[in-house]
Parts: sequence; C-alpha cells; structure tokens
Amino acid sequence: MAQQVQAVIAPGRNEPVRVETIVIPDPGPGEAVVKIQACGVCHTDLHYKQGGINDEFPFLLGHEAAGVVESVGEGVTDVAPGDFVILNWRAVCGQCRACLRGRPWYCFDTHNAKQKMTLLDGTELSPALGIGAFAEKTLVASGQCTKVDPEVAPEVAGLLGCGVMAGIGAAINTGQVGRGDSVAVIGCGGVGDAAVAGSRLAGAAKIIAVDIDDRKLETAKKMGATHTVNSRTTDPVEAIRALTDGNGADVVIEAVGRPETYEQAFYARDLAGTVVLVGVPTPDMKLELPLLDVFGRGGSLKSSWYGDCLPSRDFPMLVDLHQQGRLDLAAFVTETIGLGDIEQAFARMHDGDVLRSVVVF
Ligand code: APR
Ligand code: ZN
Ligand code: ZN
Repeated sequence: MAQQVQAVIAPGRNEPVRVETIVIPDPGPGEAVVKIQACGVCHTDLHYKQGGINDEFPFLLGHEAAGVVESVGEGVTDVAPGDFVILNWRAVCGQCRACLRGRPWYCFDTHNAKQKMTLLDGTELSPALGIGAFAEKTLVASGQCTKVDPEVAPEVAGLLGCGVMAGIGAAINTGQVGRGDSVAVIGCGGVGDAAVAGSRLAGAAKIIAVDIDDRKLETAKKMGATHTVNSRTTDPVEAIRALTDGNGADVVIEAVGRPETYEQAFYARDLAGTVVLVGVPTPDMKLELPLLDVFGRGGSLKSSWYGDCLPSRDFPMLVDLHQQGRLDLAAFVTETIGLGDIEQAFARMHDGDVLRSVVVF
C-alpha cells in the first residue's frame, strides 16, 4: 500500500524549500523503500533548488543518506528488509562497455527507481540525484542500496553517499596516492578535506592544504594536512614547489571548480605527477594554457567522478576504517538538524560555516 511521509520539496526556481506530505508507492520489481535515518546537506541540493541542474521542479531534495530497508520489490536479492544501507547515486548496470571493461565508475547506464513518488495531488517529484532522501522514507533502485556495518552512526555513514566519498575517492581511487607521496589539495571544504583524509589514509608523507580561508586551513590540519598555504596571500604554486624540493607535488587534487584553481593545480604538480580534478566547473568557465606547457609536462590529468568509487567495494571498507578509529568521518559532521532547518543549513553552507549539516530523523 502506498504510504504518506514528510519530506522536503524545492517547489520552483529559487523558491524556499518546504516540508510537505508525499506519497511513496510500494516497491516494484528491482526497487526498495528505505526508512531514512540521516541525510547530509550537499551543495548539489542547493544547485537543484536554484535551478542550476535542470528545470524539472518540484524536486525532492537530499541524497547523502543512510537508513534501513523497509521493503523490497520483486526480484530483489541484493538487499532485504532490515538491512542498514548507504544510498548511492550511481547504481551501475554491470553490462555496458565500461562495466565489462572493469571500470564501472564510468558506467553510462546507471539506474534509479522506475516508479514516481508524488505530492498528495499526484504531481510527480524529481528526486535529487535519483534519491530524494530529505524524507522519512524514499523509493530507490535496489542497486542504490549498499549494505554496511549497522553499528556505525547513520549521520556519519550517510556522508559516504556523496561529498566525502568524492574527496576520499579522488585521493585513493583517481589519484592513486601511495605511501610516501606528496599531495596538494586545493580548496578545503568538505570534498577537499575528505581528499586530505584519504591521502593520510593512503600513507602520503606530505599533505599540503591550500585555501583562501584560514578557518578551512585549521580544519584541514585536523584532517591530516601537514602544511597549509593561504592562497589569498601566498602564490600556491610557488609554495607547493618550495615544500617539495622544487619539484611540485606527486598528486594535486583540485576541489574548488574554478579556472584559477584548475590552472594552479596544473602547474603545481611534479612533471611526472597527477592532477585530479574533483571540483565541478560551470559551463561558461574556460582555461587557456600554452600548448608547450601541456606538451612539456608529463604525468596525467584526470577528472574524478564521484571519487571513481564502486559503492559495494568502497562504502563498507570506509565504514570499517571509521569504526576502527583509522578514519574520522565524524569530523565532517558540523551539526545535526531537523527536516525543517534546511533553508538555514543552505545559508550556513553559503557562508562557509559548516563542513556538513546532517538532517537526522
Ligand atoms: N582558492 C582556494 N580555495 C578556494 C578558492 C580559491 N580560489 N575559492 C574557494 N576556495 C575554497 C573555499 O574557501 C572552500 O573552503 O574552496 C572550498 C570549497 O568548499 P565548499 O564550498 O565547502 O565545497 P565542497 O562541498 O567541498 O565542494 C567543492 O567539489 O565536488 C565538487 O561540486 C563540488 O565543485 C565543488 C567542489
Ligand atoms: Zn554499466
Ligand atoms: Zn552531493
């Protein structure tokens, strides 16, 4: 039987979000209904609200979530009612060319629930990133559910569903940071700090945090940065070179998404180094580089999608590392809030006051 729950909707471009009753259908074939326990507030939710992603209002926001599977539809064998899961927004198909070549993080046939959640008047909702978890319950494809250790705190686990995974994965999956490497992370918000934490986990010898805000640099130190550079007052490329015997870093991770920081990342790497781009630019942004510099520098330039993660491999591993005290995911949770506090959380995010606000149910 379809059920009604409370959820946060973005009704139209730049309109304030509001709590509404929504209708969740019973799970169909390949689908699951998940009772949400916690969901982080991510920049992408704000972009949806601002109409920056597409115009398919009303959106059901929220996508960094963890909870318990309530019911599953026909043919679902990967999860069962009662399982504690983290939701992911790229349920890979296992059959496309990318999947068959062993690179499922490039899967171009990811899938979400087929049925629609609606408002009480029947208006269909567009769930943010195919999830929609600022809701007491949500409907997803079963492949979007990854089972992890149920002992972990939900507000910590949920963060792995997006920003924290993107940052850690940029370091350990895309950048392949190894023991003894030097790493520079440009932009130390939630994603950059996660890249710092991932680099520490991977055994990097030097982790240079770069930001324009001293408060962010202090937090980055707690996450494992060994050196900090305020790029408002100091040229970050020169500073990174000076800290790496004039060579540049083995891995430079860009976590801002702006032309000037892309350029800094390009020049701050060792000639054989790797640049990892995890900051997402806007369509109007361009970067102009002398071709001789592009040709003359070896190494590699990579973009990192969702931390090039494989949820079924990476989520349980990172939860276990957190539970063992080797990865402090709780440090990313600045505050826990209620479903009615999301507008304020967006404002605090905009002012740079929080790493993550997490809605708990
Ligand atoms: N140089 C260095 N740091 C900068 C600059 C700059 N020119 N401009 C902004 N920053 C810093 C901010 O001070 C902040 O600490 O970059 C950080 C960005 O952090 P958040 O706004 O918290 O964003 P976050 O959630 O970490 O995401 C960063 O990664 O996945 C992408 O879409 C995401 O593009 C976004 C980026
Ligand atoms: Zn695929
Ligand atoms: Zn997100």
